[in-house]
Amino acid sequence: MHPCVRFEAKFVSTELMAAAEEASSQARSMLTAIRAGTCTGSEWTGWFDYPARAGWAALEPVEDFVRKNDTFFDLVVVVGIGGSYAGARAVSEALAHSYIHGLPRSSQVPVVFAGHNLSEAGLLELMDLCDRRQPMVNVISKSGTTTEPGVAFRIFRAYLEKRFGAREASRRIVVTTDANKGALRALARDKSYRAFDIPDDIGGRFSVLTPVGALPLALAGYDVRAMMSGAESVFSDLKSDAAVSYACARKAAWDAGKRIEVTNISDPKLSAFLEWWKQLFGESEGKKGLGLYPAGFLSSTDLHSMGQYLQDGPRNMMETFLVFDQPVAQGSVQRRLAIPSQSGNADELGYLEGRHVEDLNVAVTQASQLAHADGDVPVYEIRLPRLDEHHLGALFAFHETACAISALLLGVNPFDQPGVEDYKKNLFALLGKPGYEAPGAILRKRLSGN
Ligand code: PA5
Repeated sequence: MHPCVRFEAKFVSTELMAAAEEASSQARSMLTAIRAGTCTGSEWTGWFDYPARAGWAALEPVEDFVRKNDTFFDLVVVVGIGGSYAGARAVSEALAHSYIHGLPRSSQVPVVFAGHNLSEAGLLELMDLCDRRQPMVNVISKSGTTTEPGVAFRIFRAYLEKRFGAREASRRIVVTTDANKGALRALARDKSYRAFDIPDDIGGRFSVLTPVGALPLALAGYDVRAMMSGAESVFSDLKSDAAVSYACARKAAWDAGKRIEVTNISDPKLSAFLEWWKQLFGESEGKKGLGLYPAGFLSSTDLHSMGQYLQDGPRNMMETFLVFDQPVAQGSVQRRLAIPSQSGNADELGYLEGRHVEDLNVAVTQASQLAHADGDVPVYEIRLPRLDEHHLGALFAFHETACAISALLLGVNPFDQPGVEDYKKNLFALLGKPGYEAPGAILRKRLSGN
């Protein structure tokens, strides 16, 4: 049987292959150190083997809450930013009907997201949607102090209290935050909101399998058990080495002067997954002047724009295609769409009659792999059997493991994010939060060399 997540160097020079092979024994030692909890940043390795260690147990209260909830809702609003929202968005956008809002109700409840920007228009428009629905709001923040979700939650809390009254509003709000500390935990206690814990030893971008991702997805009707079992299958079978091979390929590419990794998807349903992936690698590796810049590429859309750059711009990138053998993820029935036959051949597409659109999409992937390889871009592929909760869970575990190894190979701590903290402090200062240094103080210190 094939392992669930396969990694393959499709069109890669023998030099890069040899360099990746050379990195593999060090990468395996990194994996052992992650497993043993002895790597750099080991206090943040609770995500590794999470299903077996804590995940299945943590799912029980989540499922119990969903089962016993007797407040009707037909919209899940997730308020969060970064690792506190990206995983739930990746799964719900990959698996929901793209036009769910315009269709009759199904077993899946639409999930929408707030608190990951400060667009006033966006918040107003989301409240327009809420006016037509019965929303349940899940606010997620580990620190409980991040400005964007804090502001959005204050707005949604006021909205719910005005519309439903304080009592019902408190049943429509669920909090996911640090088990003990932070403003959100205090508020949850004060208002008797139902609250779920984010484990101490798991940072935001590694938290999708915890209640951070599991709760909103379970509320919306996704199979979070399948997601957990997909992740478990990867953590319990790292012998297959796909994550190690991917990390080694990235390290070899970096050492050979590559500075960008482009992940190529061929279905917009995976766009939010790409955002999750970008955050994971960008925030984990981009330190001390190191780290491949993680960029996304959506085929065929970007083939007609950025494709030129990939083909012929600076040769400083590697490209990884994310491919599902069965990418049509709508319910249990495998629907297909064939090119219809027509009288005449004015559009010159008669030769495609009867072929499925997805088969053409597979040809697009092959055509771009060949073209980009021709253009001297090393081409890799991550392949899974099917787009569903199980395989997305497997992909999360695969990427988390590969990312941690990859960052450790570069010599950076995968689990901190000092740059993000700089921005957060500057924003507090600019907005006048009491107790924060004047805006730009960090920059001024750096320029003056102090
Ligand atoms: O990965 C991380 O730690 C960050 O991206 C955080 O998830 C993000 O900054 C949000 O932080 P918080 O959950 O504390 O609001």
